[in-house]
Amino acid sequence: MLVRFSDTRPSGAYVLALPVAAGTALDPALPPLAASAAGAARFEGDKGNILELYLPEEGGVRRTLLSGAGSNPDAKAWEALGSALSARLLTSGEEVLVVDLSRAGTDAGAGAHIAFGALLRSWRYDLYRTRLPEKSRPSLKEVVIVGAPAGVEAAWAPLEGLAQGIAFTRELVSEPANIIYPESFVERCLPMRELGVEISVLDEDAMRAAGMGALLGVAQGSDRPARLLVMRWNGTGDSGNPPLAFVGKGVTFDTGGISLKPPAGMEDMKWDMGGAGAVAGAIRALAARKAKVHVVGICGLVENMPDGKAQRPGDVVTTMSGQTVEVINTDAEGRLVLCDALTWVQKNYQPHTIIDLATLTGAMIIALGHEHGGLFSNSDTLADQLLAAGKASGDALWRFPLSDAYDKLIESPIADMKNVGPRDAGSISAAQFLLRYIEGDTRWAHLDIAGMVWAAKPGTLWDKGATGFGVRLLDQFVADNFER
Ligand code: BES
Ligand code: MN
Ligand code: ZN
Repeated sequence: MLVRFSDTRPSGAYVLALPVAAGTALDPALPPLAASAAGAARFEGDKGNILELYLPEEGGVRRTLLSGAGSNPDAKAWEALGSALSARLLTSGEEVLVVDLSRAGTDAGAGAHIAFGALLRSWRYDLYRTRLPEKSRPSLKEVVIVGAPAGVEAAWAPLEGLAQGIAFTRELVSEPANIIYPESFVERCLPMRELGVEISVLDEDAMRAAGMGALLGVAQGSDRPARLLVMRWNGTGDSGNPPLAFVGKGVTFDTGGISLKPPAGMEDMKWDMGGAGAVAGAIRALAARKAKVHVVGICGLVENMPDGKAQRPGDVVTTMSGQTVEVINTDAEGRLVLCDALTWVQKNYQPHTIIDLATLTGAMIIALGHEHGGLFSNSDTLADQLLAAGKASGDALWRFPLSDAYDKLIESPIADMKNVGPRDAGSISAAQFLLRYIEGDTRWAHLDIAGMVWAAKPGTLWDKGATGFGVRLLDQFVADNFER
């Protein structure tokens, strides 16, 4: 969908939307029947409410949507308004939406956030739906924000980059596992080089040479070779400063391996690369808006399959850190991928801060459902920064504890640790496992986003399906802590 800003309404066919803040009177320039209709429908400008009217205009009729913005609307409310409009019109047959702010008295941010909400909510992936009836196809092609105060385009520019990043994450997450596997994931990321992102890739030989026995142990049951994808964006102009690092779990399909998952719902495991998808989308967003930050994004990309060559429960693998792991359950593969990716980034980039994102445990969904991602950290400061970024961005987080008592749960009789603890506190023992790979006083946070990557029903800014969770969070975290 195209976004445009203009001083005047376009000519030709369009739907007109007029924002109405809660408890405010309608624009007196509207025909009196608008106010009577609003009264009859009890339309009071509540957030998300839309009153659809057909008003006379120059001998014809104008489809007009009075759109509730709620009381004292902030950026979030404007996004919700844009989103509600685009959800309503997406397959309506209408092609152009005009949101007229000229009499709304809003600030420059409002117009930009309305466009952002409309754009994000209009995203869908119909690539494989070849028989979709014409009436079910998206018709909306353009949103024109009219009469926003000067500065609206400047407010839009970074949001445009962010929307690009989110859309990219959603695409990666939506694609099935026969299309997105480690090598093709890398392929899709390569065009980011045009934005100035430096990309390098480790193949299996390179990872073997580096000693990544845990990541390669997961990959060895698959015909698809593993990859470690490294994306670097430096917008600081200083090449010597240590970076911030994002690390993503990129299991392009998780069957469980020899500890095979039950069939029901296994198709969901195509989005077990949602952490890696968020890392790729965040790097893309930061590069697209030329963020003043030095950041590396690492994606550990593997497919977890059962096979004659697959690793077995009881196998002991040696990680890049030198620590050994007894693989009790081959379905606890995410931590085996992440631990080597964590060691690799610390040895090669000495990051001051690491944030890993992973669809790591089903237990996280039991604890938090689909409202918050789980946050685990060795730094209270970093945890607070992430919680704040979560609140501000809408990608909400909730913090969980870490302690020696939880760490004991993964002791092994034969190796330095085992890859699973008991069922109780399963998300925490998974985090404790990762913490064992953090060196020195590196600040580290782990985000278990298992419940957030995929939505069974539409949300404010997404349809059902891939949400793009994590991209806004990381973008906000960077903006708040590294760019001011
Ligand atoms: N990818 C799964 C976690 C998951 C489950 C994410 C459901 C999203 C929805 C992960 O690899 C896994 O299988 N974890 C196991 C760990 C267990 C064996 C300790 C789990 O959560 O059951
Ligand atoms: Mn698994
Ligand atoms: Zn998994």
